[in-house]
Amino acid sequence: MSDARLAGLAESAAQVIERQEWLAPLEDGLQRAVQAAFQAGGAAGQAVKNFLHGTWLGHPLHPVLTDVPIGAWTTALVFDTLDAGSRGWPWQASARRRADDAILVGVVGAVGAALAGITDWQHTDGKARRTGFAHAALNTLALGLYTGSLVMRRRGARGAGRSMAGVGFGVMLASAYLGGRLVYRERIGVDHAQREEPEGFARALREAELREGQPARAEVNGLRVVLVKRSGRVYAIGELCSHLGGPLAEGQVQDESIVCPWHGSRFALEDGRVLNGPATMPQPCFETRVRDGFVEVRRRPEAGLAAA
Ligand code: FES
Repeated sequence: MSDARLAGLAESAAQVIERQEWLAPLEDGLQRAVQAAFQAGGAAGQAVKNFLHGTWLGHPLHPVLTDVPIGAWTTALVFDTLDAGSRGWPWQASARRRADDAILVGVVGAVGAALAGITDWQHTDGKARRTGFAHAALNTLALGLYTGSLVMRRRGARGAGRSMAGVGFGVMLASAYLGGRLVYRERIGVDHAQREEPEGFARALREAELREGQPARAEVNGLRVVLVKRSGRVYAIGELCSHLGGPLAEGQVQDESIVCPWHGSRFALEDGRVLNGPATMPQPCFETRVRDGFVEVRRRPEAGLAAA
């Protein structure tokens, strides 16, 4: 099959998934359940949520964890193939043991990847939500097949165990395609902040337009900036949220931070660092000064990258 034909088939399959409107109630229910579970956990729930998003990493945690099952189950496939093709050879027992160990590692890694993935997915909508739901369903199926494979192997049904793992590998590949589509097509998990560097100080808005503790939007050399005046100090960070581009100027100021109105990411006004996810990447941060009644801003040479 040619590359173009294969790509066309994959695209058609993804579009069929995107059209499955009957899944919407299931997606709604699952998103609500995940959100309620984290909210019920209070501060501890928020800390776990931040951890699973990867706010401490400056990068989503989910794609890091998916490498574990993909790598481990690929290793298992190699050893299973070696096992099947080396009947009676001295290394067969060793190949079997290694295949079983690799599957176990993959199962544990898949559980961690699933937790991080569903934490990110709860804030998606539209095509991304549908694709993410299908991605999760396929991953759950792959996890079930590999768990069943382990059970079969322990019971001595090695041939059945190998077959289940083989099917699981194919399901995992299909799911990985959808995962890639979520990132490269739907732009889930990538940085949505504007990071171009304006040269020198430039006027943002009149100082008189700022109200204490109220965010104000300005555009500076094509960059959207949100300005907040607090206790006589003027803060400025990028206005488009790094998570999915939400408008921070419509968010709530909380102490020395601002909360995104779309999914609740909280950023420090001081340096743009992430205080609460789902965002994992900091906001661009600006120096401010007042000249002739205007607030002027200049992008800080180094934005803070570490999460709180
Ligand atoms: S766009 Fe999602 S938290 Fe801001």
